[in-house]
Amino acid sequence: MAGNKEIDFSYTTMDQIWRKSVGEMADFTGAKYNGDFSLPLEEAQRKKHEFIVENLNIRAGSKVLDMGCGWGPFLNYLRQVGAKGIGLTLSKGQHAACVRQGFEVYIQDCRTVTPSDYGTFDAVASVGAFEHFCSIEDYKAGRQDEVYRNFFKTVSDLLPAGGRCFIQTMVFSEGMIPLENIDINAPKESNEYLMALVVNEFPGSWLPYGKEQIIRSAQPYMRLVNHHSGRLDYIETIKVWRRRLWSFGWNKYLAYLSLAPQLLYDPRMRNRFMNLRIAPIRVAFEREIWDHYRLVFEKV
Ligand SMILES: C[S@@+](CC[C@H](N)C(=O)[O-])C[C@H]1O[C@@H](n2cnc3c(N)ncnc32)[C@H](O)[C@@H]1O
Repeated sequence: MAGNKEIDFSYTTMDQIWRKSVGEMADFTGAKYNGDFSLPLEEAQRKKHEFIVENLNIRAGSKVLDMGCGWGPFLNYLRQVGAKGIGLTLSKGQHAACVRQGFEVYIQDCRTVTPSDYGTFDAVASVGAFEHFCSIEDYKAGRQDEVYRNFFKTVSDLLPAGGRCFIQTMVFSEGMIPLENIDINAPKESNEYLMALVVNEFPGSWLPYGKEQIIRSAQPYMRLVNHHSGRLDYIETIKVWRRRLWSFGWNKYLAYLSLAPQLLYDPRMRNRFMNLRIAPIRVAFEREIWDHYRLVFEKV
């Protein structure tokens, strides 16, 4: 899996730039437009939160674990509905941002949390963290199913019988290329290059092969009760993010400038700036190399 170091590279290094672009407590995951792409991003993100709360039967007083809580957008929504949220993240920057907002958040690997840590929960949500649970090394060693099975065991142990869990995640789709073809020196328009940019941005992370792998891995512990693709939603979300990332702001541009020394010395950082130009994840969705799912599970 992606550990603290890799997650900090992906999320903490550019944390300030992102927060100044999209908002202090913004969602760092695809919104839910329900087919109406004229909606403002914030409203579409709220629709996602509503969907999760409704599908997990969360109400005032419910105790909810947010696995991979980012800057706390879902914790904030839980606060508004009167539920008690606890968040886990591996990013120092996100943890600090959440603490500033008064959220109860810990830096901890959510894949190994047990009832002895924070007790049990009425519901568990994980929006955009599942992508990081399996590493390339796990995949190569044939351990991907096992990693996901263990995760669902962890979740199941935290829930009562009939308790529900929400997972939102990117997955590989039919167009995914073999790992060994990924190449940062491949032509710029190629899928080989696009995937190399993504691997550079998210070291330590390898996606599940379709929703089927996730559903199969969950089976001993949890059954699927609702799902849909959010691929088009994510394409739209990334379009809005890119406009906001480039929009001018003194503080934001100073934050960009503060990365100059890393840009000089670290080729990984230079490749990340190509991500800002090309948005390889958006292209991966457009070319159907990747898909994106929202999945609701119930403990069996
Ligand atoms: C794409 S961000 C999504 C954040 C937030 N859920 C949202 O929707 O804005 C992924 C999050 O997953 C967290 N994460 C990844 N792997 C994790 C793990 N094993 N344990 C805890 N958090 C993890 C990262 O730290 C980050 O907060």
